[in-house]
Amino acid sequence: MPLTKIFGAQCRKPSGWLGWLMGPLMNWRHQPLSRWTLELMDIQPHDSVLDIGCGGGMTIKEMAGIATDGFVAGVDYSEVMVQQALKHNAAAVSAGRVAVKGGNVSNLPFEDASFDRACAVESFNYWPEPVAGLKEVRRVLKDRGLVAITTAWSKEMDNHQKYAVMAQKMHFPLYAGSEMVAMLAAAGFSKVQFRLKGGRGWLCATGVK
Ligand SMILES: C[S@@+](CC[C@H](N)C(=O)[O-])C[C@H]1O[C@@H](n2cnc3c(N)ncnc32)[C@H](O)[C@@H]1O
Repeated sequence: MPLTKIFGAQCRKPSGWLGWLMGPLMNWRHQPLSRWTLELMDIQPHDSVLDIGCGGGMTIKEMAGIATDGFVAGVDYSEVMVQQALKHNAAAVSAGRVAVKGGNVSNLPFEDASFDRACAVESFNYWPEPVAGLKEVRRVLKDRGLVAITTAWSKEMDNHQKYAVMAQKMHFPLYAGSEMVAMLAAAGFSKVQFRLKGGRGWLCATGVK
């Protein structure tokens, strides 16, 4: 199998021994993107916050450092990532401030109206039914809760044609900001908007329940 395909499959759902290498790699590589997302989410100390497709658990740890009097949950359908995220947040998990669960965005393992904020960093492009996934995220948000969906690769990149070819080989689509906000609106979110980071083409789309 070509390397791009192997890497693409591991990004989509890390597994096996290669999957164990993905967690630390993504924790390091995605931290700036994650921090930008968290800035835009305006998390408050008492908030309940959810990270969907939490990977190795770096974003969960950052969230727990902001929602110091709240609660942080992560969910991922990769068992390897759940184990790594639990390990990465072991102290906060023991203290009951963080929980990490196995689960798919199509059927999130949380009650209705559980969270003030939710995000997905570098995960949304892998969701097979993005609008259905967003509806499910909306279900677990409280009224006026906010969702932030961030992707480093988008049609907003200057050289997006080059990345589109790679994305195709890795079997995921690139979205434009207008497409992301249209999907958020179709899922029932209001106040939908998107922001771009500098010249990097980083895209964060947000909506409010
Ligand atoms: C590229 S990784 C990003 C991980 C982490 N958010 C980060 O920024 O480092 C994508 C993650 O989303 C998870 N994922 C993809 N589709 C998912 C789905 N439908 N439900 C739950 N998790 C999903 C994958 O298992 C993987 O851990």
